Amino acid sequence: MTLYPYTLLLHIVGVIGLFIAISLELIITSRLQAAKVTTQVHEWLTLGRVIDLILPVSAVLILVSGLVLTFSVWGLNHAWIDLSLGLLILLGILSPVINGPRMKAIHVAAKAAPEGEISASLRKVIADPVLRAYVPVPGLVALGAIVLMVLKLDWLGSGIVMALVLIASLIFAFSLKR
Ligand code: HEM
Repeated sequence: MTLYPYTLLLHIVGVIGLFIAISLELIITSRLQAAKVTTQVHEWLTLGRVIDLILPVSAVLILVSGLVLTFSVWGLNHAWIDLSLGLLILLGILSPVINGPRMKAIHVAAKAAPEGEISASLRKVIADPVLRAYVPVPGLVALGAIVLMVLKLDWLGSGIVMALVLIASLIFAFSLKR
């Protein structure tokens, strides 16, 4: 009996977790922009704690199961594997660097803000243009990784997928920033 299908199942569970976390992040960021009173900000920030749990667990699950699948059958010499590994590491670096300090600033401002209508200082950190521009990026990158994993493209095909992900991220980022 081979453990391969079970490991693949764990990999897919990790991918589902990743998309749940990414969707929650999208929802929270957009609801924060629409919030009218401080209580709403507190409520949406509380939901953010779920992401802090789901995201690292999913990332570790994807990585460990992905490496087991890779070394048991494929080896590292495939564009779709190497690039997906790179993408996962990139997401692991970008999210804490870009989102982390900005979400922390919102937490701090929300704590200091009075009840009632959102203060100007809280509105300012919520409307951070970089935070808004980055929102669609993790979803697009993860979607790109799914295309690579399923189609198992060579370097040229994988490069084209990466370029499309980059172009789509830039288009979304600039339109949302405005
Ligand atoms: C965001 C990151 C990732 C996503 C969304 C993702 C998604 C997927 C999906 C949907 C499959 C099923 C493909 C199929 O059965 O046709 C899969 C399979 C697989 N993934 Fe990933 N993956 C990611 C990261 C990784 C990483 C980092 C590695 C390696 C270190 C990896 C290695 C593999 C391998 C070896 C398979 C098995 C392919 C097969 O047997 O057909 N994945 N992945």
